[in-house]
Amino acid sequence: MISVTPELDKQSDIPLYQQLFVYLKGQIESGLLRENDRLPSIRQLSAYLSVSKNTVETAYQQLLAEGYIQSRLRSGLYVMPIEKLERAAAEPAVVRTGTAQKSEDLPPHAINFEYGDVELDHFPVRQWKRCLMDALEECTSEIYGYGDRQGHAGLRSEIARYLYQSRGVVCTPDQIFLSAGTQTTVSLLAQLLPLPGEVAMEEPGYNGVRTVLMNMGRTIIPIPLDHDGISVEHLKRSGAKTVYVTPSHQFPLGMIMPVQNRIKLLQWAYEQDGYIIEDDFDSELRYQGQPIPALKALDTCDKVIYLGTFSKSFLPGIRLSYMVLPERAALDYRSRLQAYSQSVSPLIQAAMHRFMKEGYFASHIRKMRKLYQSRHRVLLRSIHEQLGGQVGIIGERSGMHLLLDVHGRSSEELVKRALEHGVIAYAPRKHWLHREACPPSYIMLGFGGLSEEKIREGIIRLRKAWFP
Ligand SMILES: Cc1ncc(COP(=O)(O)O)c(C=O)c1O
Repeated sequence: MISVTPELDKQSDIPLYQQLFVYLKGQIESGLLRENDRLPSIRQLSAYLSVSKNTVETAYQQLLAEGYIQSRLRSGLYVMPIEKLERAAAEPAVVRTGTAQKSEDLPPHAINFEYGDVELDHFPVRQWKRCLMDALEECTSEIYGYGDRQGHAGLRSEIARYLYQSRGVVCTPDQIFLSAGTQTTVSLLAQLLPLPGEVAMEEPGYNGVRTVLMNMGRTIIPIPLDHDGISVEHLKRSGAKTVYVTPSHQFPLGMIMPVQNRIKLLQWAYEQDGYIIEDDFDSELRYQGQPIPALKALDTCDKVIYLGTFSKSFLPGIRLSYMVLPERAALDYRSRLQAYSQSVSPLIQAAMHRFMKEGYFASHIRKMRKLYQSRHRVLLRSIHEQLGGQVGIIGERSGMHLLLDVHGRSSEELVKRALEHGVIAYAPRKHWLHREACPPSYIMLGFGGLSEEKIREGIIRLRKAWFP
C-alpha cells in the first residue's frame, strides 16, 4: 500500500473527511502521490487511520469529483496524470456538460454548485482570440513592456464609457486604476486609505476582501445587516471612517439597498469625511425590476471608491478589475504608489480594449444575462418543486448564487449527505467574521457554471440526499 499518513485532528471543527481530502489533494499536487499510484481501498485506509469508512469514502468522492483521481473498473482508484489534472482544471467535468470523454476518465457525475464558476460553453472564443491576435500584432512596444502603470489608457476610456452607460457613474479615465482582481485592488487601497486602520464591513461580508484587509493590518469592524443591507445606524455608532459595502447585491445574503438607505450611507460619509468602498461585483446580473444605478452615481461629494471586476461579466481567468478613485485619492495614489508596476498583462488589457470597442463585450453581457436568468429561473423552480416548504431561499433576486435555509438541519451534515449523492454544496460560514453567528442551516449554491439540466438534476439529488 502506498504511504498515506495524514495527521487527522479529531478535535478540529474541520470534518475528518475534509482533512483527509485536503491532505490527499496536497500529496497529488506536490507530486508525492504520482500518476497511476493506486490509492488504498476504503476498507484498508479506514482501518489504518481508525476512521469510519464513510470518512474515507467521502474524501475519495471529492477527489474523484475534482478530477484528482479516477476509478478503473474492478481495479480501484488511481491518481490522474498531471496533464489530465491540468485539463480537468480548465474543463472541470463536474461543471461542464456535453464534453465527450472516455468512460474510464469520467468521474462519478458530481454536480458542483461552486460560487465563482461562470459559463464557459458560450464564451465568445472566436472574437476574443481575434482581439488577442490583433493586440499582439499591432501594438508591440506596449504589449512587450510593462505597460502604463495605471492601466491601458484606451481600456480605461472604454471602462469610463461603460460605467456611465450601464451604472450611471460619471468619471474620467484618469480616475480609473486597473489591477489583477479585486483582492489586488483592495491591497492597494489598504495602502492608500488614511490611518487609523479600521475598516467597517458588512457582517456577513465577502471573505475574499476581509482577509486581504486583515492581512494588510486593518482592523475589521463588523456591522450587522438589517432587512435592506448594512445598518447605517450601527455604522454611525461604530466610529469607523471607512466602510466596505456591496449595495447593489449584498454578498452573500443578496439584499439590494434601496435609494433611501444609499442616501443615508452617503450622508454618513460626508459627515465623517470618510470613504465608502463600493464593490459592484455582479451588477450586470440583475433579473428582476429595473437596473439601479451604482451608489457612486449618487455621490456628489466624491466619497465613494468604486470597485468593478470582469470576473463575473467576462471570465475570472482574465484577472482584470478596476477601481474608480475620487479625485483626491487619485492624486494620492499617483504620489504614493507611483512606483508600482501594473499587475495586469498589457496583452490582456489591449485585447480587452478591442473587445469592448468592437461592441463584443456589450453583446456578451446581454447574452450572459439572458442565459444566467434562465438558469436562475430553473434553479428557483427546481427548489420549489423538489424542496418546497422544507427550505427557505435567501437572496434570489440577482447574481450567480443563492442561499438555502434548510430548516433545523446543520450545514455540515447537509454538505456531507449532498456529497454522498454526488452533489458538491457549500457552507457559507467563512463569510461571517464571527463564524458562530452564521445560521448552521445555511447552504450556499452557486449556479454560474451549471447547465439547466445539471441544475435540475442537482436539486433532485439534494432532495434525495436531504429528505429521503
Ligand atoms: C463580493 C465579491 N467581490 C468581488 C468578487 C470578484 O473578485 P475578483 O475580481 O478577484 O475575481 C467576488 C467574486 O467572487 C465577490 O463575491
